Amino acid sequence: MSQSSESTQSSRSSRSSQGHIFVTRRIPQAGMEILEESGVRVTVFQQDEEKGLTKEEVIEGVKSCDVLIPLLTEPIDREVMSANDKLLGIAQMAVGFNNIDIDVASELGIPVTNTPGVLTDSTADLTWALLMAVARLVPQSHNYMVAGRYKLWGPNLFAGGDISPGGSGKRKVLGIIGYGRIGAAVAKRSIGFDMDVLAYDPFNKKGVEADSLAQWAEFDELLEKSDFVSLHPLLTPETHHLIGEPELRRMKSSAYLVNASRGPVIDERALVRALRQNWIAGAGLDVYEHEPAMADGLAELDNVVLLPHIASASLDTRGKMATMAATNALAHLKGEPAANVVNPEVYDTDAYRARVSRG
Ligand code: GLV
Repeated sequence: MSQSSESTQSSRSSRSSQGHIFVTRRIPQAGMEILEESGVRVTVFQQDEEKGLTKEEVIEGVKSCDVLIPLLTEPIDREVMSANDKLLGIAQMAVGFNNIDIDVASELGIPVTNTPGVLTDSTADLTWALLMAVARLVPQSHNYMVAGRYKLWGPNLFAGGDISPGGSGKRKVLGIIGYGRIGAAVAKRSIGFDMDVLAYDPFNKKGVEADSLAQWAEFDELLEKSDFVSLHPLLTPETHHLIGEPELRRMKSSAYLVNASRGPVIDERALVRALRQNWIAGAGLDVYEHEPAMADGLAELDNVVLLPHIASASLDTRGKMATMAATNALAHLKGEPAANVVNPEVYDTDAYRARVSRG
């Protein structure tokens, strides 16, 4: 473990001062400070922002720690979680936790926490940045400027799609798929654009609660009527490839698709075909099916805006996520119920009690 660094504080009598927290990759300073001030032993495996860990390195870290703080870049499966029968918890620094096998964690008696709520606004903001950038060709125009190609104003120069009623005078329809906290925050931001909002939620097929911002729609209806389709569901087997060739063909040829949820919600190869053959007008993506790789041909298209999974990346939000992950980790370490636990049933299991008594 040559890359790892440890910060061990002087021992204190609380149970937490005796623990060891393994942080796979350095989290923002606000979270590190909470860990360091607690007096626990902290190992940060990877200090280099651009490097990840192999599965073997994650397993080695898990073997020696009491609590794991992973990021969404590390798959946490049975093999990883079985490496240490004293592991008291996993405190992921992300709201999404599709990289962790929650069923296995529950079976093994391991509580898992995430960081919900704090990134809702930042993610909704970035969704709108993507939506506006793709419709109004913002990155393409920027690239044109910095390449020194702007010689003469022209009436057709970078003419894109309207977001507000604009020239057509017709209200645009924003279709939101996955109407939870983030979906609703995206809807809220549409007010200033005089849009009509349709909502569909794959986990609540009977309809979203009446909401003054959005009107419930069936899935196909939303795809057919929307000028912008924005994806915000959790990634589960049910939402894997929720948007594939049939769904893309159902959308308007003038419509834009935006994804700031998880990449595998879209069949990315089908999306490349759709964008090449103009079944839809464009796509704004923050996430990828096989992240960080992109489907062949995606990066060469001129009707896409592509970002490196930065929806929650504001300084304040990332700091708050790190604070929550650190606080959750310390609760795991003390054997206390943690806020933001995604598998709370685990606390009533013999498997969990056995872990705490071994620790
Ligand atoms: C980011 O994608 C997160 O899940 O927090």
